[in-house]
Amino acid sequence: MNKQSNTYEASMDNLTAEVVERLQDSSDPRFKRIMTSLVTKLHEFIRDVDLQPSEWLTAIEFLTATGQACTEKRQEFILLSDTLGASMMVVMLDQARAAKASKGEFSATEATEATVQGPYYWEGAPEMPLGSNIAEGVLGEATYYSGVVTDLNGKPIAGALMDVWSGDGEGNYDMQVEGSDMAARAKLRCDEQGRYHFWSIRPSFYPVPVDGPVGRMLDQMGRHPFRPGHIHMKVSAPGYELVTTHLFVANSPYLDTDAVFGVRQSLIIDYQSCPPGVAPDGKMVEHAYWKANYDFRLIPSRN
Ligand code: BEZ
Ligand code: FE
Repeated sequence: MNKQSNTYEASMDNLTAEVVERLQDSSDPRFKRIMTSLVTKLHEFIRDVDLQPSEWLTAIEFLTATGQACTEKRQEFILLSDTLGASMMVVMLDQARAAKASKGEFSATEATEATVQGPYYWEGAPEMPLGSNIAEGVLGEATYYSGVVTDLNGKPIAGALMDVWSGDGEGNYDMQVEGSDMAARAKLRCDEQGRYHFWSIRPSFYPVPVDGPVGRMLDQMGRHPFRPGHIHMKVSAPGYELVTTHLFVANSPYLDTDAVFGVRQSLIIDYQSCPPGVAPDGKMVEHAYWKANYDFRLIPSRN
């Protein structure tokens, strides 16, 4: 502040402090903390890279195009957050917070680890009985999924709910086709022993959408847009934290360089190849199929 005139006079040395100072009357302390940090780090960044006006304009045009690419069906900003690792950072931080809130008795790694939700979750998948084929008519190799949902001590959680979705065996999601019906999605309720089993397909690797500004950014970064094969699920039960996660197909391409940084070692599972014959659910299967097994472990609720 220029004391004589009461006029703020900008200088490289005082600008950051002045912008932060003008947050003092903000009534929301959390908002104030977030904006203070954001402004401080933004200014640091601009100085650190010695940002030129033309570069700043390019960034603004990029963010504008990102907003313009958003529709009811497409969220380019989330894709930007995913591909910059911001989504995963938020996901991991939240799970660590939940683990800590459960009196620090558990570490997040003892629980089923969370990963990004991605853009293909579709609210309202039908509830199907255990043992259903949730991917009837969907392209891909049949897979028998089974396991149990427990707490962190291994105690089964009766009636836990799984909301499952994946693309097909070639990496395409139902939602990507205009006007399509739901496919390879269902809610399944675990039995009294917390057990689940269902049939679906073995998912393939696929690219995130690249026909927008984020695709151009990845290209300029010299990065590929692919995600390794995975099946998504949200697993929940009263009294426990909902976990949004995936199971990744072991040996899938791109496990080491997932475009959205979502891979966690504990979520990579072997898909066991099985010859035709009687499947674990007693069903006679005429063709070869895969078997995938995973036990989910939920963190107690924060409140
Ligand atoms: C997905 O797994 O479906 C996904 C996640 C992040 C960005 C794009 C796709
Ligand atoms: Fe996916």
